[in-house]
Amino acid sequence: MTRHLLRDDDLTSAEQREVLELAATLKADRFARRPLEGPRAVAVIFDKPTLRTQLSFTVGIAELGGQPVVVDGNLAKIGVRESVPDVARVIGRQVAAIVWRTFEQARLEEMAAHVEVPVVNALTDDYHPCQVLADLFTVAERTGGFASSGPALAGRSFAYVGDGANNMAHSYLLGGALAGMDVRIGAPDGYLPRTDVLERATAIAATTGGSVLVATDPREAVAGASAVATDTWVSMGQEGQSAEREAPFVPYQLNAELLAHAAPSAVVLHCLPAYRGKEITAEVIDGPASVVWDEAENRLHVQKALLAWLLERA
Ligand code: NVA
Repeated sequence: MTRHLLRDDDLTSAEQREVLELAATLKADRFARRPLEGPRAVAVIFDKPTLRTQLSFTVGIAELGGQPVVVDGNLAKIGVRESVPDVARVIGRQVAAIVWRTFEQARLEEMAAHVEVPVVNALTDDYHPCQVLADLFTVAERTGGFASSGPALAGRSFAYVGDGANNMAHSYLLGGALAGMDVRIGAPDGYLPRTDVLERATAIAATTGGSVLVATDPREAVAGASAVATDTWVSMGQEGQSAEREAPFVPYQLNAELLAHAAPSAVVLHCLPAYRGKEITAEVIDGPASVVWDEAENRLHVQKALLAWLLERA
């Protein structure tokens, strides 16, 4: 049965740990696994802008011995020129895996339903699981490493402030709960996480020893946290709402005052691109608690691990 990563909870808690541990191996020895030797091709498709994702997947696929094939969604016009199933049938016969950044989650699900190779979510409107794997890896690396018992994440608290209804918030809820973390979301009314995601994260947390909290007071979310993350207030596809997507989030800006409520050793994460002076201050993102450049590098290592892990099971 082909395995995919369409949303964070397509991996079990134990499987997430395996991927993170393999990422640590691959960070220490970048050429330790060559599952795409041949080279076999991997399609990397973008319907939205990208920098880190294109870079880390193309570099990573090459380091795994493969050949990345970047497909420009503006040219392919998937779902417009031809249907998602038709595209899936064409691409699926030529590549070892498909990586897709797109809008609706349903498009990704439809692609996965029509191919026999792994499909990886490289960001949808709903989830960004590869980024959250990188973030979890970064927190583990910074706060306790990868002991024989696995990445040091369980029991630690992870706070996210800002748009609680976006892809990052949803993936933090699911991915953090799988890791056994105490996940706290600080977001304004009207921008709270989707109920079904919250319920799913709560159910996962009950099995992993983690917990889930949603607060409209950002200080409550951040209090004592080991890691604090934020993200843009205007996600890709929401550019037309930029004006109304500012005022509600101002109290959730990740600044020195808010960060002072976290643990003294807390690390700061941001998936980037960052808008200094909006969701995060320059003082914080460029300050000593920030691990955003490690976080960006770690996309490479976790995505290689994920692809290698999925290909072993394909
Ligand atoms: N929430 C952001 C994440 C960017 C990596 C967006 O979807 O644009």
